[in-house]
Amino acid sequence: MPLLNPLTLLLLPLLTPLVSSSVPADYTNLPSVRPGVFNAQTRIHLTTTVPAVWSALTNFPLYPTWNPFVRSAVVAIPLNSTVPPQYPVEGYHLFLRTQIPALPLPVDETTPDNPLHTQFASENITHVQEELGRLAWAYMAGVVNLALQAERWQAVSDLGNGTVLYESREEFYGPAAVALKALMGKALQESFDAQGLGLKLLLEGGQ
Ligand SMILES: *[C@@H]1O[C@H](CO)[C@@H](O)[C@H](O)[C@H]1NC(C)=O
Ligand SMILES: *[C@@H]1O[C@H](CO)[C@@H](O)[C@H](O)[C@H]1NC(C)=O
Ligand SMILES: *[C@@H]1O[C@H](CO)[C@@H](O)[C@H](O)[C@H]1NC(C)=O
Repeated sequence: MPLLNPLTLLLLPLLTPLVSSSVPADYTNLPSVRPGVFNAQTRIHLTTTVPAVWSALTNFPLYPTWNPFVRSAVVAIPLNSTVPPQYPVEGYHLFLRTQIPALPLPVDETTPDNPLHTQFASENITHVQEELGRLAWAYMAGVVNLALQAERWQAVSDLGNGTVLYESREEFYGPAAVALKALMGKALQESFDAQGLGLKLLLEGGQ
């Protein structure tokens, strides 16, 4: 199943904003969001291309082969039992099985979960902005989870010197976020950093 059609692949280099060569050290391609109770975030430079990072982030079936944080990501259509192609579509839902803190690197599809660190989350895919290199999903509050909201953004930018900036930030809101921060804030932060390092290992290999 091609995840990027040939036309998209052809246009992607044109659509990808090229940040000028004098990029300030604090440059970010993440949108600013309303501050929450806390956030977990990471940023890492990768020696690769924007399409390679975008493809890794949107190829959910391959997550188990490299991602030490999100071990499984399954896309579903709301109120529809048809199994859609497994890439992000705005308004579709995403069911995640995660490890918090992340598994030690490297991982592959055979790496077992640590059952004590396994968490499940249902997300709503809110933004798939390939032309901006941005992807976002929001935690869907369940009946028991009304007290927690969260929104995770990921962004990919070409720094123009053979380096790609990968950024990810999840902002947590609501009364339950206070308890979540105390219980899992540090482990969540480790998981975000680990996903960045997992991407580096995937895309730069043994370099
Ligand atoms: C590329 O540019 C970024 C932003 O200016 C800089 O932080 C980074 O060190 C540069 N990387 C290389 C390999 O030159
Ligand atoms: C379910 O999704 C499929 C694929 O997108 C679509 O063709 C079908 O019409 C949908 N069914 C309903 C009941 O919405
Ligand atoms: C999911 O996100 C879409 C797009 O932002 C929005 O229209 C929809 O209402 C959201 N659905 C849920 C269940 O939050």
